[in-house]
Formats: sequence, C-alpha cells, structure tokens
Amino acid sequence: MDAPLIDPFARAITYLRVSVTDRCDFRCVYCMSENMTFLPKNELLTLEELDRICSTFVGMGVEKLRITGGEPLVRRDIMNFFRSMTRHLDNGALKELTVTTNGSQLERFADDLWNAGVRRINISLDTRDEQKFADITRWGRLPQVLRGIDAAQKAGMRVKINTVALKGFNEDELLSLTEWCAERDMDLTWIEVMPMGDIGNENRLDQYWPLKDLRTSLADHYTLTDLPESTGGPARYVRLEETGQKIGFITPLTHNFCESCNRVRLTCTGELFMCLGQEDNADLRSALRNHPDTDEPLEVAIRNAIALKPKGHDFDYSRQRLDGQMSRHMSHTGG
Ligand code: GTP
Ligand code: 5AD
Ligand code: SF4
Repeated sequence: MDAPLIDPFARAITYLRVSVTDRCDFRCVYCMSENMTFLPKNELLTLEELDRICSTFVGMGVEKLRITGGEPLVRRDIMNFFRSMTRHLDNGALKELTVTTNGSQLERFADDLWNAGVRRINISLDTRDEQKFADITRWGRLPQVLRGIDAAQKAGMRVKINTVALKGFNEDELLSLTEWCAERDMDLTWIEVMPMGDIGNENRLDQYWPLKDLRTSLADHYTLTDLPESTGGPARYVRLEETGQKIGFITPLTHNFCESCNRVRLTCTGELFMCLGQEDNADLRSALRNHPDTDEPLEVAIRNAIALKPKGHDFDYSRQRLDGQMSRHMSHTGG
C-alpha cells in the first residue's frame, strides 16, 4: 500500500484539488446560470470526512492540496479544516496547502489562512471595472474583492490573479491588468473559457478569446521569454522582460497539456474525478462511510480510481461547435 500513485500513462498523481462546496456567493456568467440548484447540505461530506480522505491521499503521496469550490471560503467552519491540514505541512508530507477563491471573504480570513500555512493563493478577477465586474459576476462587488486582495498580500501571501479571457469583455484590459499586477507584484494567469455546465442563455463560442491571440497582442508591447518552470498546475509561463513579471496561460482548447497531468479532483460529495474534462468518476464516500474504523478500503478505492484515469479531455471548439461539452459545472469539481 506504500507505492506512489501512478496512473496507466505513467503520470504520478501528487496534486489533489478538493471542492469543499458547490455553493458560491457569485454567479459568474461563464460558470453558472443565475438560478442554480445546489446540493442539499446533508449530501456534503463533513469536514471530518474531508480530513480523512485528504489525509489518506497525503499518505499515498499527494504533496499539493488545493482547496476550491464553488467558493471554498463560504463553507461554514472551513477554517477548522484548513487548520487540521496544517499537521501535514508540519510533518513535511504535504509541500503546499493552497486555495482558489473569488476573494469575497478574504478580508475576514486572510490571516487565518496564513496561520494555517497557506503561502500562495489564487484569486479570480476578470476585470477591474466596477460595472463590468458586477455584470460578469452578477452578484459580486469589485471593492470587496480588492479589499480581499489587499488583505491577502498584507497577511504575506503570494497572490496569483486568474483571469478568464473573454472576447469583447476584457480584451481592452489586457495591458491595464498586466500593469496593475506588475505594480502590485502579483502573477497573472489567463484561462481559456471551457465548456463546463449549462450557463443559461450565454454562448461560449461568443465568449471564446483564444490565448494565442492574446499572446500576440501582449508581444506587441512586451518582450516575452518562455519559462520552463511549472507550479505543478496546467499553466505555461512567460516572463515579460520589461517588468520582470510572470504571466501564465491555461490553454486547454488551443494546447492540450494533459500529457503532464498530475492531479485528480474530489467533489464535496466524495466523488473522485480523474479528469476535469471527462465524466468518469469513482465514489469514495461509501468506502469511507461503510468503514469508519479502517482506511484500507478507501485506499483500495483510490488506487482503483487512479487506474482508470483517462489520457485526456476532449474539449474542442475548432469545428465551430462545442465538442467535449461537460454537463458538470466548474463549481462542481472546482476547476
Ligand atoms: P497553480 O499552478 O498551483 O497556481 O494552480 P492551478 O492553475 O492548477 O490552479 P487554479 O485553481 O488557479 O486553476 C486555474 C484554472 O485552471 C482552473 O480553474 C481551471 O479552469 C484550469 N485548470 C486547472 N487544472 C486543470 C486541468 O487539469 N485541466 C483543465 N482543462 N483545466 C484546468
Ligand atoms: N472556463 C474557464 N474558466 C472557468 N472558471 C470557472 N468556470 C470556467 C469556465 N467555464 C474559472 C474561474 C476561476 C477558476 C477557478 O475557474 O474564473 O478563475
Ligand atoms: Fe463562483 Fe468561481 Fe463560478 Fe464565479 S467562477 S460563480 S466565483 S465558482
């Protein structure tokens, strides 16, 4: 049972993303419809159960744990869960405990996150225009998020801004967002919009702004140097020589990075998704609940699931229609 987790394509699984809730206090137009039905609370894993699953994964070689949602910081008592994961950082088994958030609750929680051992945080922000921010998130308010970003930096965390590239929406902010991040010493990663979940009346092909176009525009203003490094995530990075800052590109549509995929995703109900872009999943909840006194069945279920990890996703817009469309929302598996 001590062997590392290796999938059928010889990829070592060292990164677990955990969606601790499917709920969110925003309703981003590319992510959710305005009237979302969320899971009944009694279907969620308890924080103790999440601890047990995450700890089992850490025991099996997972070194990086990213807490996501929905919006992870709206889950009640979530700080208790972060604090309980600190022990794995302290004993060296876990190298990184981190979080992806919309920033709305950071004013309240930044110091607690730092104290739990979070050193790097990814915050989603698609525009710095107050009206556009309200339009794209429907329920979000920009000043609150900006205060959250301030709080995160003040607490000492390194901040990475995640921006979904949206045609006709934030194309005009390419340079101003870049400059703003440089001034504040924040990294910036652009994400191609992915076909996840029903989003009501919005059309994703209208939203799609390929990152190779974005990169070309950036290269008109800066000297770009490709960087070999990786954070263990899917982004490829360039350095802007004029500012020294790092810009990431997450391009599941124009460049498939599946060959180096090192991660699996746990949902708040205990399903394990082996790929963001495929429906296959394994139920870990029954292995957990049917065996309260031993983790062995859980370990077996995890190994069996990893043995089924597919080679990659099938997202594709190239034929001017949506291929690989997923019925699941991003908030279900946490991106
Ligand atoms: P770091 O590299 O650790 O900073 O993080 P990350 O990029 O892995 O995590 P983050 O939560 O910031 O992810 C940003 C977005 O990347 C996610 O919301 C997804 O949209 C996308 N993403 C992350 N992992 C995958 C993946 O395996 N496949 C695809 N297609 N997209 C992914
Ligand atoms: N395509 C691309 N990115 C998405 N996100 C949410 N839904 C989508 C989608 N369909 C992004 C959020 C956040 C990250 C967790 O995922 O904006 O930055
Ligand atoms: Fe919430 Fe993130 Fe989805 Fe926006 S993208 S609705 S912040 S889960």
